[in-house]
Amino acid sequence: MADTYVLSIDQGTTSTRAMVFDHSGEVISVDQVEHEQIFPRAGWVEHDAEEIWKNTRKVIGGALSSANLNSKHIDSVGITNQRETAVVWEKATGRPIHHAIVWQDTRTQKMVDEIGGDAGPERFKEKTGLPLATYFAGPKIAWILDNVDGARERAEAGELLAGTMDTWVLWNLTGGGENEGVHVTDVTNASRTLLMDLATLDWDDELCEAIRVPRAMLPQIRSSSEEYGECKPGVLNGTPVAGILGDQQAATFGQACLEPGTAKNTYGTGNFMLLNTGTEIVRSDNGLLTTVCYQLGEDKPVYALEGSIAVTGSLVQWVRDNLGLIKDAPEIETLAKGVDDNGGVYFVPAFSGLFAPHWRPDARGAIVGLTRYANKGHIARAVLEATAFQTKEVLEAMQADATRAGSDLTELKVDGGMVANETLMQFQADILGIDVIRPKVAETTALGAAYAAGLATGYWSSTDDITDNWGEGQRWSPDMDSEQVDRLFRNWKKAVTRTLDWVD
Ligand code: G3P
Repeated sequence: MADTYVLSIDQGTTSTRAMVFDHSGEVISVDQVEHEQIFPRAGWVEHDAEEIWKNTRKVIGGALSSANLNSKHIDSVGITNQRETAVVWEKATGRPIHHAIVWQDTRTQKMVDEIGGDAGPERFKEKTGLPLATYFAGPKIAWILDNVDGARERAEAGELLAGTMDTWVLWNLTGGGENEGVHVTDVTNASRTLLMDLATLDWDDELCEAIRVPRAMLPQIRSSSEEYGECKPGVLNGTPVAGILGDQQAATFGQACLEPGTAKNTYGTGNFMLLNTGTEIVRSDNGLLTTVCYQLGEDKPVYALEGSIAVTGSLVQWVRDNLGLIKDAPEIETLAKGVDDNGGVYFVPAFSGLFAPHWRPDARGAIVGLTRYANKGHIARAVLEATAFQTKEVLEAMQADATRAGSDLTELKVDGGMVANETLMQFQADILGIDVIRPKVAETTALGAAYAAGLATGYWSSTDDITDNWGEGQRWSPDMDSEQVDRLFRNWKKAVTRTLDWVD
């Protein structure tokens, strides 16, 4: 046990990482490469899946070599991934027939409106836990089949395969076109397609027909923790791949939110708050999603309520790349600290419409409250505060649903890139009015997928190991008077109303 490790691949929205963990959940090594964000038109976001697979191989090699490791040191591999991003490729060659369509992409709006028909966005909510929205993977697959010449016929004939990024990485890792790669996804990723029935955990004929995705091209749905196949060929040749979790579910698992009523919030490209609701499927009355949290082997699935926010960290990137206001992401904090408050400025980043709890595809971003007094420090402050206010909207929805599910949320575990930002974390605790806790090991997404893999192979013996390994790093407590909180949040809500009805 002493010198074996678990390697986790985190295929995220902006980058791909490989991380090696030891038995106590500590990071041994890491390698990371960013990939291109392709924006062919307003509202469209694509990734080159071949570039992502090339980067995956590169970071696996990098993480191994930087710690002088080889496949003999690696017990197993776990995969975690940006969810809902869809790719379609040729079974024989492994060549994608189109760029992957990213979860933030809104091109399927017309399609989802038509599918909803008179029933509207709630048409499949009971079966899938999801509203009909551009966010999810199924309609993206259908769009590719409708827009690439001959694709639909080829899919029906079994020549094309579809999947989310976990499936793409797994298929390539386990041999790809040449060596009969394993075509599998896990329940958490499948629960983000609008094609899976939450109760049966299988693809559903009615859904596949309505969304027009041939079942033949879909991967087999398996649990989140079992041996799916072995890596071949390459540096990990012969190593079992034994864990798959969508990245937000992986973070929930890595944060040891294993009991009903426990929750985490991840600050990545977007923000995603998940509340473990146990083996019960809890439907939201407040704009949250119902999703699979994880399933370990043959055990009963565990479900979650989720509040998904499309744009948080990616707003900081936008300020860096599109406005050139900062040179690197951490500079946003320096700039924000140069002013005492937001100067009345609010930034609602509805770049892909508004996700939870609003689900308003017609919204578009707005900066409001500008006066001649406002400067770039106020804009930076408004950028950071947008993350905290959006999180409060989701927490309020979560608290309302959680009370019904028999739990209350009195503190929040956080993780992800933005939790390094102390100014944001203090403001977050102030605005939420509850303690915000960052764990010792903040790499909970990659760690969660490693746990899923290592539990399947026996590297970790039970989920108690996860709980034992988790440790509190830093805690922020609320320290703002309630009148000020109310005023700020009231203004935020007013700013949100200004973004609605923007797109016909
Ligand atoms: O649902 C989208 C989510 O999985 C993306 O996560 O961390 O890549 O922004 P992230």
